[in-house]
Amino acid sequence: GSATRYEAEASPAVCTGTIDSNWSGYSGTGFCNGTNAVGAYAQFTVNASTAGTATLLVRFANGVATTRPASLLVNGSAVQTPSFEGTGAWSTWVTKTLTVTLNAGGNTVRLNPTTASGLPNIDYLEV
Ligand code: GCU
Repeated sequence: GSATRYEAEASPAVCTGTIDSNWSGYSGTGFCNGTNAVGAYAQFTVNASTAGTATLLVRFANGVATTRPASLLVNGSAVQTPSFEGTGAWSTWVTKTLTVTLNAGGNTVRLNPTTASGLPNIDYLEV
């Protein structure tokens, strides 16, 4: 079926940081500017109609040259360690594809940064 978009700035998503709108090109009303710290995160609650493999699209911008690594947690378990490369500008948004296993119904999908630089700016997650 068609993808559902979950905006990072909209409840039930959680952004440890601020919801900003100063860099253009975002979807919805803003984006998650996570605090530059290991303990900050962006979390989404996503629905899957059936259990199994699902493709996640994360839209992000990273205006610095240094890649920002993260741990991806699904329903509380760390499942992979995506890295968010520099996109050239904070207003240049790209999508990263991540393949995960979801339960039927609600699932939490969380990005925990693993360095003190924190996450890139996160616009949305599509499932
Ligand atoms: C800048 C930029 C923010 C970004 C931050 C960061 O302050 O304006 O949007 O989140 O850098 O390094 O994460």
